[in-house]
Amino acid sequence: MKIFSTVLATLALVPSVWGHGYMTIPKSRTRLGAEAKLDSCPECSILEPVNAWPNVTEARVGRSGPCGYNARVSIDYNKPGSDWGKAPVVTYRAGQVVDVEWCVDHNGDHGGMFTYRICQDQALVDKFLDPNYLPTEAEKQAAEDCFEAGTLSCTDVGGQQCGYNPDCQQGQACWRNDWFTCNAFQAGDRRACQGVDNGPLGACYTSIAGGFTVTKKIKIPDYVSGHTLLSFRWNSFQTPQVYLSCADIAITGGSGTNPKPSTTVSAPSTLTTTTRASTTTTGSGCTPAASVDVTFNQAVKTSFGETIKIAGSIPALGNWDTSAAPALSAAKYTSSNPVWTLTNKFTAGQAFEFKFIKVSSSGAVTWESGPNRSFAVPKSCETTATVSATWR
Ligand SMILES: *[C@@H]1O[C@H](CO)[C@@H](O)[C@H](O)[C@H]1NC(C)=O
Ligand SMILES: *[C@@H]1O[C@H](CO)[C@@H](O)[C@H](O)[C@H]1NC(C)=O
Repeated sequence: MKIFSTVLATLALVPSVWGHGYMTIPKSRTRLGAEAKLDSCPECSILEPVNAWPNVTEARVGRSGPCGYNARVSIDYNKPGSDWGKAPVVTYRAGQVVDVEWCVDHNGDHGGMFTYRICQDQALVDKFLDPNYLPTEAEKQAAEDCFEAGTLSCTDVGGQQCGYNPDCQQGQACWRNDWFTCNAFQAGDRRACQGVDNGPLGACYTSIAGGFTVTKKIKIPDYVSGHTLLSFRWNSFQTPQVYLSCADIAITGGSGTNPKPSTTVSAPSTLTTTTRASTTTTGSGCTPAASVDVTFNQAVKTSFGETIKIAGSIPALGNWDTSAAPALSAAKYTSSNPVWTLTNKFTAGQAFEFKFIKVSSSGAVTWESGPNRSFAVPKSCETTATVSATWR
């Protein structure tokens, strides 16, 4: 605990413990909260005190979740509000390289490293898209773990410089250039995060002392979603703090049509599926697939004798008749990764509703709770898609 008390002592010497940074492009929920005049300090969504350095992934997100909690104004951005979270603010294409930006406050530039992430487990993300539901801390952490697994690496973007943080030594957990780095905290010139763009003060809005933009490029992964989240995490070098914010985005297939165009997104509770194109995105001029091999991955703990099946609104899923519902396989099931899987061919563009069911050895059927899940088989050049879900 010595390290921890040292950081706390350092914190006491920091002129302002309030800070300090939030995602601005694409427009994060936090930025929308500030623009709606609900959040008087968008740069103040802080997870603290935590061990933020040198192990940048050590801190559990707690109440902050992947979208941030602003204790100053008591806003939890993990839940859609009146002015954010209801629809994507931007639609990207899979494989596209885009500029993203966050804003660091002049008085709260703590140096360190930052990262952008996309979680490809739509069922987890959906919990953050329901205006009537506040995710639990366990759900926030599960989503954070998923975002961490979906780190959009700096090095994925050809030609982008991806350095190591000058305040980190080789061998330390912060020695990684998949994350983006600020400059040396004490650099005389181009210092800390404001030194990344080295642009003018006030180029972006912060309430405390004015902001500096921090701009990088990310590559959108090969993934399709009518509504998902891009999450931003900045680990401070100077203070025991982590800053989190997220933006509502949509991602269309790289070469085909989006199975769920953002303009027709319906109630978030029905957006319970995900497609992950597992083939490499091809350029234009590819042949649209007539059928698609859809793989269902259902994370669910089962006891001996229990079987997971999928019942749904089309003949291939038994027309809701549980005795005709196809069974998933437990071949990949392990105690650390309890997952049931099934791959079946579906017609491209076919839409259906479904639920997973648990069938005991005596034949008793337990349905998943909540609304029916829905899925539209991608109509594109992709010949495979994956639906990943967690039993609820
Ligand atoms: C960093 O923290 C994470 C989470 O506690 C842990 O799994 C990982 O091993 C740590 N890394 C190092 C290099 O200590
Ligand atoms: C799911 O769909 C079936 C068939 O249309 C319907 O009977 C059932 O009520 C739906 N379940 C929910 C929770 O909406």
